[in-house]
Amino acid sequence: MSHNVKTLGVLGAGQMGGGIAQVAAMAGLSVKVFDSFPGSIERCKGVHAKSLGKLVEKGKISKDAADAAVGRIGFVDKLENLAGCDWVVEAVVEDVKVKKDLLGKLAAMYPDEGVVLATNTSSISITELATAAGKTAGRVVGMHFFNPVPLMQLVEVIPGLQTSAGVVERTMALATAMGKTPLRANDRAGFISNRVLMPMINEAFYAWMEGVAEPEAIDGIMKLGCNFPMGPLRLADFIGLDTCVHIMNVLAEGLNNDRYRACPLLKQLVIAGRLGDKSGRGVFEYPVK
Ligand code: 3HC
Repeated sequence: MSHNVKTLGVLGAGQMGGGIAQVAAMAGLSVKVFDSFPGSIERCKGVHAKSLGKLVEKGKISKDAADAAVGRIGFVDKLENLAGCDWVVEAVVEDVKVKKDLLGKLAAMYPDEGVVLATNTSSISITELATAAGKTAGRVVGMHFFNPVPLMQLVEVIPGLQTSAGVVERTMALATAMGKTPLRANDRAGFISNRVLMPMINEAFYAWMEGVAEPEAIDGIMKLGCNFPMGPLRLADFIGLDTCVHIMNVLAEGLNNDRYRACPLLKQLVIAGRLGDKSGRGVFEYPVK
């Protein structure tokens, strides 16, 4: 089945939305990115320039292809200016209310059911988010990308209870056309990726809190002994410690099991403002960019 997408709308110009926009443009789609947060559009353009520059430097794409990709991405700071898309992926903050509000507005802006409303949520129920589209809930689907989007191979595709079979097939086709490998998971909290990854990261914080080993050793053991590209604590900083806590909360509540409660030390670091790469310090320290 073909995905039938010419223009992709992306909600959110952050780490994930910006990455999704970049890979879509590299795959030849026209892209419109919406973000109303001051400075986010300029920041996103800078991230695109840096990432595409790296890919050119490494001979992964030509300079002409990188320039053409940049030329295919437009930015808007008002949602009503996101008209004319035939597929929209939302990649805004992991907050059910914010996501449902935006999906409801999108459903009203795009009465044509053929326009798929995809969500890049990392763990929130697709079935619940889909209710925001009312009678057209069948066109809402989970399309979960991984950070850094230009380098990570996977798109986790998650149908909600209402999602139509045709929309799932089109999502698989679009992810493939974007150069990714789509794999399907069902709609349970955390899907597969975060249900397996986050408890492991959480356990690394428990091991540190209990003094089993220092952070450098915990990460070194998992890198050298298990061939992880990043240790679990470094990866937690990369993802954002606040996001890790949030995902653990979603797992604990959604799977109804206290074994998914966030580690007290992880929560404490977040309270102290140590959020990881984005705040300059999490488990480890990072130079201010
Ligand atoms: N675009 C282009 N190039 C990039 C890039 C990007 N966005 N990000 C990094 N690179 C480049 C670097 O500049 C570097 O180039 P260089 O070799 O010329 O210096 C090259 O990629 C390799 O990067 P690094 O040297 O920094 O380090 P690594 O070799 O470790 O590779 C990595 C980086 C691909 C991020 C690797 O460490 C990795 O795969 N880490 C695990 C990432 C992961 O698990 N992501 C999933 C997170 S979970 C998630 O997203 C789900 C959510 O719901 C929470």
